[in-house]
This record gives sequence, C-alpha cells and structure tokens, in this order.
Amino acid sequence: MSRKIKLKVSIVMGSQSDYKIMKLTEKILKKLGVSFETKIISAHRTPKRMYEYGVNADKNNIGVIIAAAGGSAHLPGMIAALTSIPVLGVPIESKKLRGLDSLLSIVQMPKGIPVGTLAIGEDGAINSALLAASIISNSDSKIKNKLKSWKKLQSKSVKKVPK
Ligand code: RP5
Repeated sequence: MSRKIKLKVSIVMGSQSDYKIMKLTEKILKKLGVSFETKIISAHRTPKRMYEYGVNADKNNIGVIIAAAGGSAHLPGMIAALTSIPVLGVPIESKKLRGLDSLLSIVQMPKGIPVGTLAIGEDGAINSALLAASIISNSDSKIKNKLKSWKKLQSKSVKKVPK
C-alpha cells in the first residue's frame, strides 16, 4: 500500500534583502496550513548551492517551488532547468528599474523551461502563496477547503456601496 506523502512548498530567494517581501508568502502559507521551507539561494553568488538544491528538490517532498529574485533575475529559470517540480517566479522590485527588469527576466523564459510568473513585489509574493496552495490542494482536501473559505471571506469583505 502506498503512503500519501504530504508535499511542501519551497520558498527560495536570491538575497536576504528579498525577505521583507517574501515573508508575506510565508504569512499566507501559514494561514492556509501549507507546510513550507524558506532558503536563500543566489544563482550568481551561490551557484553550487543552487545546483545542489535543484537536483535534489524531487527527493525532498517539494510540491511547488516559489523562487523570488530581483534585477537580472535568473534564479527561477535556472532552478526550473534543474527540476520538473513546478516553479513560480516572483519578480522583486529593483532600485533602478522598479522591478521591470526582474519581471521581464522571469516572464521571458524561452520555450522548453516554463516558469509561472507572478506580479512584481507584494502582490506577486501573496499570489505566489495562493497559487502554490492551490496546486498543492489538488491532492489535499484540507487545503482546498481553506482556500475556498479564504475566497468567501474575501468576497464578503468587498462592500456593495462606497462609504
Ligand atoms: C538579486 O539581487 C536578489 O534577488 C535581490 O533582489 C537583488 C539585490 O540583492 P542584494 O544586493 O540586496 O543582496 O540577486
């Protein structure tokens, strides 16, 4: 008899400086009861760490990878090249180009290696958690129900008329 393995979400980011945005991803995953881990991995500063992480991701019960990076944001694409686990990319807002550089780097993956790209910054960080939870919920009814309640609450919070 095969045992059902609980899959976790793995959040990786290029720098400690990305954490002020990516802690929002952690917050949402916690609310939805999704297991996760968080790591700093830089494609250019720690290429060996990135390679080891990518090739071992399958063994580590990871269901979805959320990779955040800013500037020349190659981390999500590089990780996606090393594993078949779905990778969601969060473009971090950069100082010079306000994240347009990060967005285009992540979204413009050439065919063959897909990265699901979210919005720049906070919205992307939050939505990456919701989308990752939604992917995990295909095999976890508890999380599916939590997501349903989340959406209901969100709808309820929208006023019918402005005050
Ligand atoms: C990227 O460079 C990181 O993802 C970060 O967004 C950006 C700047 O990094 P720091 O110089 O703040 O470490 O690799």
